[in-house]
Amino acid sequence: MPEIADIIRQTLAALGVSTPAEVTARFDALRAEFERDTTSARDEASWKSLRDAWLGRKSGVLNRITEQWLKSAPPELRPVVGRSLNELRAHVEQGLESLQRSIAAAAEKAALARERVDLSLPGVIRPLGSRHLVRQTFEEIERIFLSLGFTVVEGNEIETPYYNFEALNIPEHHPARDTMDTFYLDLPPGSKPHLLRTHTSPMQVHTMEKQQPPVRIIVPGKVYRRDNPDATHSYVFHQVEGLAVDTDVTFCEFKGTVEYFVREFLGSAAKTRLRPSYFPFTEPSVEVDASCFVCMGKGCRLCKFSGWIELFGAGMVDPAVYGFVNYDATRVSGYAFGLGVDRLSQLKYGIDDVQLFFQNDVRFLRQFP
Ligand code: DAH
Repeated sequence: MPEIADIIRQTLAALGVSTPAEVTARFDALRAEFERDTTSARDEASWKSLRDAWLGRKSGVLNRITEQWLKSAPPELRPVVGRSLNELRAHVEQGLESLQRSIAAAAEKAALARERVDLSLPGVIRPLGSRHLVRQTFEEIERIFLSLGFTVVEGNEIETPYYNFEALNIPEHHPARDTMDTFYLDLPPGSKPHLLRTHTSPMQVHTMEKQQPPVRIIVPGKVYRRDNPDATHSYVFHQVEGLAVDTDVTFCEFKGTVEYFVREFLGSAAKTRLRPSYFPFTEPSVEVDASCFVCMGKGCRLCKFSGWIELFGAGMVDPAVYGFVNYDATRVSGYAFGLGVDRLSQLKYGIDDVQLFFQNDVRFLRQFP
C-alpha cells in the first residue's frame, strides 16, 4: 500500500525535474510504484484504500500532481507533464478496474467453494403417512355403492333416543336396547336425554324425514357402545349404514345389491348366503354370510369349519319405520343394511385384534400403505 507521505515526497521531488526525459522517468517510477501496490491489494477493503490513495479527490497522488506540479511547471514542460499525467491516470483507472474485477471473481469463487452442496450426501428421508386401514375400507365401500347410484350422507354422533331407538321401531324396554349398551350424555337435570349413537341407523330416519323416495344412501361414521374392549369389541367403532327406498324396490334387488357388494369387496369368487335373522327395523331380516375366502368354503379355523363367514346384518325395511317418517307403507318398499367396517377390515386383511385399529402403532399402520 503506498504510504501517502512517500508519494507526496516523490511528487514534490518531481518539482525539481527540468527536462522532458526526467519527467518521463519520474512518471515511469510512479507507474512502477502503482504496479507494486496493486499486487498487495487482495480484497475489497484494500482495493478501496488503493483507489483513494491514487485517485482520491483531495490527497490522491494524481490530484497532488495536478495541483502541485502541473500547475506550477514551467510552460515548456507542461505538455509532457500533462500528457504523462493523462497516461498515468488512464493506466491507474484501468488497473484499478481490472483489479476490482479479479477481486470480485476471487470472492465469488471462494463463496461458491464455501457453499458447495455435496450431492453425494444421503438425503433426509421424511416419513410419509398413509390412510388408516379403516379409512381405506370406508373408501372401498363408498366406491362400490357410489357405482350403484347411492349417495353418501353423514350424521351427528350425538343423537336422541327417539332417532337411535324409537323411530327405528325399538321402543323402551325392547330387548334390542340391551344389546346396545349405550353411553348417555351427562346433562343438567331437566334436559332432554341425549346419547352417543350406537349405530348409524338413525340417519335412515333423518334422511326419510327430509326426503321423499327414491332414497339411496350410505352413511359412513363412528358409533359408540359400552362394550368391554377385547379383540372384537371397542367403545368406538365404525359402520356404514345403507338404505334404499322407492316405489318398486324388491327383495330381488336387495339380494342382487348385496351379492354385488360382496363380490366387489372380497373378490369375484366370493359366494353369498342369506340367513334368517332379526332386527326391529327390518322384516324380513337377514345375516349376510360370504363363502370363506381362506378355505374357499372347504372349512378352516377362520370360518370355524363351516365354510361361511358372517359379514353383516340387513333386511327389507319394516313398514313400522315408514310410519315414523310419514311414508306410505302401502306404496313404498326398501331395504337396509349395516356394515361393520372394523369387522370387514379385520376379515379382509386377516387382522385378529380390533384394538390394533385404535392404537395407531405405525409399525402396524405401515403394513397397509
Ligand atoms: N344397526 C345394526 C347394528 O348396529 C346393524 C344393521 C342391521 C343395520 C340391519 C341395518 C340393518 O340397517 O338392516 O347392529
